[in-house]
Amino acid sequence: MSRFITFEGGEGAGKSTQITALSERLRAMGRDVAVTREPGGTPEAEEVRSLLVNGDAKRWSPEAEALLNYAARDHHLRNVIRPALANGAIVLCDRFMDSTRVYQGYAGGCPMRFIDTLETTIVGETRPHLTLIFDLDPEVGLARAAARSNGRENRYESKGLAHHALIRDGFRAIAKAEPERCRLIDASMPESEVARAVWNAVKDKTGG
Ligand code: TMP
Repeated sequence: MSRFITFEGGEGAGKSTQITALSERLRAMGRDVAVTREPGGTPEAEEVRSLLVNGDAKRWSPEAEALLNYAARDHHLRNVIRPALANGAIVLCDRFMDSTRVYQGYAGGCPMRFIDTLETTIVGETRPHLTLIFDLDPEVGLARAAARSNGRENRYESKGLAHHALIRDGFRAIAKAEPERCRLIDASMPESEVARAVWNAVKDKTGG
C-alpha cells in the first residue's frame, strides 16, 4: 500500500541519515521506496531550491519564500510524489509543507491564511500519512549543520539562534496540534535509538 511519510525539524537533526537507514530497511522487506527532498526533488524544483538556499539571509520576503517553496512543491508533487504513490510506493520526503508553515509562517511572519490557501490548493488531498518531527536543541543542531555544510547552502543556517529556537517551537506546536499525523522524535538520542523510534512510528503505518 502506498504511503507518504515526511521528515521535518530544524537544521542538523539527523533527518537524512535516518531517511537512508529507513529506506534500506523497507527495501530489504521488498517494499518499493522513493526517497526525495524539498525544496527540490525534480531538476526544475532543484533550480528553485538554489534560489532559496543561497545568498543573503534577507534576499526574499517570507511571502516570496512561501511562493518559491510552493512553486517547487507543485512541480515535485505532480512529477514525483503523486506518480510514485499511484504506483504503490512508500515516499520518504525530507521536508514538506510543515517546513513552510514553520519557517515562513511561524518564524517568518508570513500570514498563515496565505500559507493555508497555498497548502489547500497545491497539496490538496496529498497530505502525508505520517510526519516525523525531529526535535533537537537548536544549538546542537546548528553546530552539526555548520560542520557539515562547509559554507554551502547556508542562507537559513545564518539566521541566528533565537530564530532557530522559534523554529523548534513551531514544529512542536504542529506535533501537538496534529497528533494523528505527527510523531515527535527526540533527535538528541544516539543514532541507533533514533532509528528505533523512527521504525516504531513507521511500522504501524506501513504494515511492516
Ligand atoms: P534542508 O537543510 O533540510 O535541506 O532544507 C533547506 C532549507 O530550506 C532549510 O533551512 C529549511 C528551508 N525550507 C523552508 O524555509 N521552507 C520550506 O517550505 C522548505 C521545504 C524548506
